[in-house]
Order: sequence, then structure tokens, then C-alpha cells
Amino acid sequence: MKILVVGGGGREHAIIRALKQSPDCSEIWCAPGNGGIGYDAHCKAIAAIDVAAMVAFAKEQAFDYAVVAQDDPLALGMVDELAKAGIPAFGPDKAAARIEASKVFAKNLMKKYGIPTAGYETFDDAATALAYIKAQGKYPAVIKADGLALGKGVLICQNEAEAAAALKEIMLDKKFGASGSRVVVEEFLTGPEVSVLAFCDGVTVKPMVSSMDHKRALDGDAGLNTGGMGTVAPNPYYTPAIAARCMEEIFLPTVAAMRAEGCPFKGCLYFGLMLTPKGPKVIEYNCRFGDPETQVVLPLLESDLLTVMRATTFGTLDKTEVKFRGGAAACVILASGGYPVSYEKGKPIAGLSEGQLPGAADVTVYHAGTAVKDGQLVTAGGRVLGVAATAPTLPEALQKAYAAADKITFEKLHRRSDIGARALAAMKQVK
Ligand code: AMP
Ligand code: GLY
Repeated sequence: MKILVVGGGGREHAIIRALKQSPDCSEIWCAPGNGGIGYDAHCKAIAAIDVAAMVAFAKEQAFDYAVVAQDDPLALGMVDELAKAGIPAFGPDKAAARIEASKVFAKNLMKKYGIPTAGYETFDDAATALAYIKAQGKYPAVIKADGLALGKGVLICQNEAEAAAALKEIMLDKKFGASGSRVVVEEFLTGPEVSVLAFCDGVTVKPMVSSMDHKRALDGDAGLNTGGMGTVAPNPYYTPAIAARCMEEIFLPTVAAMRAEGCPFKGCLYFGLMLTPKGPKVIEYNCRFGDPETQVVLPLLESDLLTVMRATTFGTLDKTEVKFRGGAAACVILASGGYPVSYEKGKPIAGLSEGQLPGAADVTVYHAGTAVKDGQLVTAGGRVLGVAATAPTLPEALQKAYAAADKITFEKLHRRSDIGARALAAMKQVK
């Protein structure tokens, strides 16, 4: 099969590396891809959000299957358009992608079907929202832009002045564009966070191994929110008892709710969960694989990814085995100094050969923001590389990932040095 993967970051690189292990995959392309992905797939410079150009390219190349990995083309209906062109694709259609693309849609769905989440109200004007927050008088107050905002549309406000500033930024100054025409104001929850990715075919849901993201830029969870600075899998807080409860109270009801609403979800549904003192609750849904969660989850997948993906598209997931091997995985992101605010690009990267670390067993370097310029690999984004390792235990996986990361250098490289520290501490507690 000739396959197209839409996107161009570390997540897409991890998907490509897993798909290439399938005996059914004969040729693989990535659009737009990036410099390092170019060592593993043919790349085509088409923007992931250019639905018309992507569909035209897919038709011209006669792909047998496509994987739409990124949120915005999913929200724009790329899977629907590919299907119309006769190309089956992994991912939700436009109607089902609303579970991520509209927080108002997601919250109303959870309320209607009794799925545990933070209490909330939605507003379409800033003054009414602020009046509500004042009347509640409960801080921190959580304010979320309705639409996609590159993971930056959530503001946690400690007092009335911060809430007023957040509402101004989102609704009046339109920092996130049309995504901020409506907001959700919700209750502040506490507890460990867990990411669970799950394959869905509209009816059946099969969760993958759990993981833990590290969203803040600096050690000790300080600094700004980023796309994610590192991940570990499995997440030690996610015990078998909690997993069983999430299946009953969250995963099955969500898939049934989407079906009942006439928009069955097919693809990878990402459950961002918080394990609160009152039980697991949904913090957010994403309609796609997480980045950098994918970089630790897929290396632990034992089943054939292409077979499982196609089963979600064709509705045969119930008959398809989704098996994970034991052991653990860790991924450390190497970022450009200054990320997520402003950073330089074009810095030569040393230590890699054809994008990988020679001689490092069980280590894979996933490329997020790299380019090849005059034969030299250079930085080309905020998150540059994800160095991932698998091992029988989490301490070993972390040790391997950091040892490998130490061998890669570029000017102004920034990484966290405490990825997995919380997970290791939790392993001692949870036992
Ligand atoms: P999101 O983009 O929805 O994942 O939100 C970003 C981060 O904000 C989450 O990972 C949480 O750490 C935090 N967050 C979101 N909603 C809440 C909430 N209701 N209570 C506490 N923290 C939250
Ligand atoms: N790592 C968080 C996300 O993919 O949304």
C-alpha cells in the first residue's frame, strides 16, 4: 500500500516509523514533512491546512490510504474530502472533529451524557462572562477559548483582574482569532493528569498505553505552557482500577454519545484526564494523536499500526487485536532556546547521522522542527527533536533517553532535565 501522512512534526515522524514496520506498507509519503522525516519518507511541501491541494496531490499519486494526524486539517474536513475522492483516511470527519475544535461542543456533550468533567458555563460576550466570574467569586477561574488555539487557549486566572485581562485578550483583542468568539468558564480541578489515546471505529474503543506529558517549558513545571517538553509511558498514576473506571465512566459513554449525536468518532481520540479527589474527569478531548505522547506510545505498540488504523476506518476494530508490549518509554524534547516565545532557526545540529544516533540501541530521534540545508541538518522550529527510548523499566528508559540526548548539540539548545521525575516519585507512592 502507498500511504500519505499529513503533518510535519515529531508525532508524524513516530507514526511514519511505526507504519513502515508494516508488511503492507510499500511506499510512504509525508506532507509537508520536515528535514529529518525526509530520511524515512518522501516529503511533499504542501501545507497541512491546504485541503484542496492535499486532496489533488493524493488523487494524482493514487494513495491507498491516508493518515491525517494534525488537528486543523481534521477540523477543516480533510478526511471527508479525501473520502469523496475515493481515498480512505485515518481520522475523524469534520463533524466528529468538533470534539476538539469546539470546547463548547465538547462540554455540552459531556453535560448531556453525564460524562464527568469540570462544571462550566459558556458565554459569547466578555461582560456577561466577567459578571458570572465575579458573582461566583471562586479563584482560580479557568477560561478557555472555544476553538483551536495551538494549545494556548486556556487561561487560569487567580483573581478578578486576571480574569478581566484574559477575557479581553480572548474575546475583545481576538488573540486566537475566531476561536475566541465564545468562551467556556469552568471550575478549577486538581489532581495528577493522564493522557490516554484510544483507537475508535465509531462503535468500539480500544485504549492505548497511558502516558504523561510535561507541558511547562522549565524544570519543576515552571515557565510557560508549551506543546509538550517530554513524555513518559505508562503513566504510573493510571492504575488498572482507574483504567477500568475510565472505560466505564468516560471512554464508552463518549463513543456512544458521539454515535447518538450522529457523528460517530473514527480515528484516535485523546482523553486528557485529571484524577481528582472525586474521581477521573475529562479536562479536554483531542481528535488526534498527542504530540509528544505518540513518541512514547507507538514504540510500545506490538500490533501492526496500519492494520489497526484501517480497522478504525472500516469499522472492524472489535475483531482487531490492539496489543502493547510491557516495559516503558520516555521522550525528551530538545527545543530552541526561547521557545515557546521567540527563538532562532537555522542552527546546525551535531551528533546525528541521517537523522539518527548511531549505535544507540532502543533509541529513536523523532524530528519535529528540522530542515536539511546544503546537506546539513539544521533547526527549523521551536521543538526541534524528540529523543525517545524504550526499556524494561521507566528509570532505564529515562536514563537511556537522557544519555542519548546528551550526544546531540546545537546552539541555544534548551531541554528540561526533570522529565519523568514526577512519574518516578509516583511509582514509589502508588505501590
Ligand atoms: P488544555 O489545553 O485544555 O489541555 O489545558 C491546558 C492545561 O490547563 C491542562 O493540561 C491543565 O493542566 C490545565 N487545565 C485545564 N482545565 C483545567 C481545569 N478545569 N482545572 C485545572 N487545570 C486545568
Ligand atoms: N501533548 C498535548 C497535545 O498533543 O495536545
